Amino acid sequence: MIYLDDLLKGVDIVSKSGSLHDNVSGIQIDSRKIQPGNCFIAIRGYKENGLNYLGDAIANGATSIVFESKPDETLPDIPINLTWVLVKNARFVLSKMAAAFHGHVSDSMYAVGITGTNGKTTIMSLLHAIYSTELETAKIGTLGMFYDGFQEKATLTTPEATDIFQFLRYAYQKGCKSLVMEVSSVGLSLYRAHAIHFSQGIFTTFSGDHLDFHKTMEDYLKAKMKLFERLGQEDWAVINIDDPSANKILELLNCKYLTYGFSEDADVRPIRYKIKLNGIQATIKTPKGDITIKSSLVGRVNLSNILAAVTSSVIKGISFENITAAIKEFQPVKGRLDPVYQEDFTVIVDYAHTDNALESMLKSLREVVSKRLILVFGAGGSRDKSKRPRMGKAAAENADFLVLTSDNPRQEDPIDIMRDVASGFDAGFKQFIQEPDRQKAIQKAINMAEKDDLVVIAGKGHEDYQIFMDKTIHFDDYEVARETLKRLKKDTKPNA
Ligand SMILES: Nc1ncnc2c1ncn2[C@@H]1O[C@H](COP(=O)(O)OP(=O)(O)OP(=O)(O)O)[C@@H](O)[C@H]1O
Ligand SMILES: [Mg+2]
Repeated sequence: MIYLDDLLKGVDIVSKSGSLHDNVSGIQIDSRKIQPGNCFIAIRGYKENGLNYLGDAIANGATSIVFESKPDETLPDIPINLTWVLVKNARFVLSKMAAAFHGHVSDSMYAVGITGTNGKTTIMSLLHAIYSTELETAKIGTLGMFYDGFQEKATLTTPEATDIFQFLRYAYQKGCKSLVMEVSSVGLSLYRAHAIHFSQGIFTTFSGDHLDFHKTMEDYLKAKMKLFERLGQEDWAVINIDDPSANKILELLNCKYLTYGFSEDADVRPIRYKIKLNGIQATIKTPKGDITIKSSLVGRVNLSNILAAVTSSVIKGISFENITAAIKEFQPVKGRLDPVYQEDFTVIVDYAHTDNALESMLKSLREVVSKRLILVFGAGGSRDKSKRPRMGKAAAENADFLVLTSDNPRQEDPIDIMRDVASGFDAGFKQFIQEPDRQKAIQKAINMAEKDDLVVIAGKGHEDYQIFMDKTIHFDDYEVARETLKRLKKDTKPNA
């Protein structure tokens, strides 16, 4: 039996009605998922107010409700036999209730949260591989929630608190001892991971993505900082000192920390390294001694991601032997600087879809390509428009030839989006063609590749769909690249 008052421990209740000593059979924010005896938490979304679905929730059997309202709002009509609780911030309370309902399982796990604009998925996957050599480890991120055979494909980078804690309880009961998790700034603002006690927070990079949600850069950085404000004296922050925002985060820390990066000041940094088109070798200085690694990952940004993973693993006390072995075996994450073909020329699929990611990815690859760098890219529709010209600029400045195409046009005309992107090119810039059909764009780029050229297909990575105004179609950059290469009689990497 779990009572409502157990779930609300430590929550500031503004007012209430009915008994809090009632059994709660489950908690839900979606009125359609309500089962008899559930508590319905009415979240105020950006478009919808959960309270509008109160009737549905009651019809489906909700016996209690938690909601928030603004001071000047009148209370909604709530049936007299229903227990209700008014709180200040329903999302915050949801996270606490979800954790309590599932037995605070994350308190018994060593949790690492990774935040920043780029590199989260790569670092999370690397860490999962390294931690798993010594600890049963679960992972949550853009690609979904995974533990020991259980997997749920994600639709949000940070899932809702109810889903997170349900998953964590499952993992805990199966013996899971640690968790590595991508924590997006949006997820942080919405308190989705709030009730998880992170023993480590990792900060990767910061740039202006998600500005449609966060409005200003300050707001966005503040959201990211939430993860770090909550780290206590026994916890650790792992900070990318190469990023210009690093100092702002270091200033507010109340915990122990290590910095990583290429900078001389970094606690964890490479003292010797070679980055080639087919991999990385490095000797890395750490507070526990030097460690030499070999990896098949491509590019400087990935050496940065490896540094983050090494720093976190050293803090956790994973043995050097296990760290090196896991990094050596680790294959590129699907869609993140992932080679499809590496013979006379190279074809790489990459997920970079922000100006900052494009720039650092292209700069990374520029270092290792001997001839031309040909880039296929576009910007998504119905999202932050301000990044489009910046993406155009980053692409034009860092690649030799551009095939400008569509990403997910969503509710917009692909031609308009391409125009916005092209507005970032310098006047007189000519090294590009425009091809709104992404399949044809990829074909054109690969067909023009010559010996030692590098073709990068950017923006969609692991996605296997393309979203248009009126339809969503199956679309896979890998498939298109492989088919094109096959027509050119090239053997592609079998499991790329
Ligand atoms: N450390 C890094 N710094 C800058 N760019 C990076 C870094 N690591 C990866 N990238 C680029 O960003 C892209 C996305 O990487 P990744 O999926 O690891 O990031 P993410 O933070 O999980 O992104 P998202 O918020 O979309 O889930 C990569 O394909 C690569 O081009
Ligand atoms: Mg990610």
